[in-house]
Amino acid sequence: MRKGLEHLILALDVERPDEGKELLSSLRGGLKYVKIGYQLYARGGAPFLREAREMGLSIFLDLKLHDIPNTVSQAVEALAEHGLWALTLHCAGGRRMLEEARRARDKCGSDMSLLGVTVLTSFDEASWEEVAPGCPLPEALGRRATLCKEAGMDGLVCSPLDLAAVRSSAPGLFTVVPGVRPRSADDDQARVATPREAIASGADYIVVGRPILGAPDRGEAVERMALEIEEGLECRKI
Ligand code: C5P
Repeated sequence: MRKGLEHLILALDVERPDEGKELLSSLRGGLKYVKIGYQLYARGGAPFLREAREMGLSIFLDLKLHDIPNTVSQAVEALAEHGLWALTLHCAGGRRMLEEARRARDKCGSDMSLLGVTVLTSFDEASWEEVAPGCPLPEALGRRATLCKEAGMDGLVCSPLDLAAVRSSAPGLFTVVPGVRPRSADDDQARVATPREAIASGADYIVVGRPILGAPDRGEAVERMALEIEEGLECRKI
């Protein structure tokens, strides 16, 4: 498997499990990580996770858990049974929720990584002020990244533009970065970078959906991403 694929997560944002399965089969051998979100999990559930795992894929389940500590720790324990590579939790749930999630994961001997989601990238300053009056967004981001580190998360999800801030607030945590697309794309992602830029800035993994799902040849689009990632890795060494 080429080196670039070690850093690429395909966001499998398709409507139905059979469509997802077909796509994964067509990319078999040419993909390592897949992100499954609410839509596909709601329709495909545990059987779909098993099928993806049986295809040799590492699964990133993006459920952004956010509830009282007891409920979240029970969910983590149940989800750890699916052999996931990583699971997301929302930092807004607070220190105790994150710590109890980690304890639940450790208690069942799972090696599933727990990733904190700091501030959703859909917020701008005005919408953030509505939910967190008086706390500027960059400050909230830094504080939540520190909380992830202190609560024992393994990594963080952040925008490519927040990589430097997150690295200084939470050194040692790995970063998973959505909002990555080729320069020419024109869609709803506002805070974007190219795969090469994101990797060169230190992203450990990039999450890419539509630029691959919407390509006429998806296999070729994955190859192109892998190549750009490899270029980014080269820049990182300089
Ligand atoms: O299609 P696109 O490349 O924009 O897909 C990005 C994926 O990353 C989507 O599945 C989206 O839900 C997810 N994501 C995001 N921003 C976050 C967290 C996750 O775009 N902050």
